[in-house]
Amino acid sequence: MLEAVPMGSSRTIQTRLVLPPDTNHMSTIFGGKVLAYIDEIAAITSMKHAKMQTVTASFDSVDFYSPVRSGEVLELEAIVSSTGRTSMELYIVVHSTNIDTGVKKLTTESFVTMVAVDTNGAPQEVAPVFPETEQEKKLFESGSIRRKIRKEKREMPSKFFTL
Ligand SMILES: CC(C)(COP(=O)(O)OP(=O)(O)OC[C@H]1O[C@@H](n2cnc3c(N)ncnc32)[C@H](O)[C@@H]1OP(=O)(O)O)[C@@H](O)C(=O)NCCC(=O)NCCS
Repeated sequence: MLEAVPMGSSRTIQTRLVLPPDTNHMSTIFGGKVLAYIDEIAAITSMKHAKMQTVTASFDSVDFYSPVRSGEVLELEAIVSSTGRTSMELYIVVHSTNIDTGVKKLTTESFVTMVAVDTNGAPQEVAPVFPETEQEKKLFESGSIRRKIRKEKREMPSKFFTL
């Protein structure tokens, strides 16, 4: 087994300005735009942790809490919240700030599973993580419950439809 590293060692922060093409007819950001940003920061963070290429295995949950308007600033923060043998669970939180009022809001929260792969796409072992702060401890300790839910979901029958 690889040596465990602090959760914070691959923490990543990205800042984005929300522009008119990113928004819909209500001048609020497209959910898909936020998903693309989440996918990108999950990839960067997981690659920093795994020290190799990673792929997105699943978007486990995404919750949109408040709309974001054109001209606001998005701040995305990602951390490896727990690991399996080759998979990493990423926790991503997104805040928006209105520059004129200074009001900062929680916008989106997401858990994503990324898998480390070699050049042939075969899953590779990753180092475990350990928490250091109180918040990290809560995230880390609840990881086993989320892993169990993911496992149960994957065991449920699916692919019902032929489209
Ligand atoms: C993710 C992928 C590498 C898994 O490959 P696989 O042959 O199923 O490998 P395994 O069954 O050995 O699973 C490897 C790990 O991925 C996890 N995993 C696989 N599918 C998963 C899913 N749908 N959700 C969450 N975790 C998943 C497994 O639990 C395992 O984790 P562990 O080693 O920590 O226990 C493969 O399905 C793949 O390449 N998918 C496409 C990825 C991609 O292209 N993403 C971009 C968007 S399309």
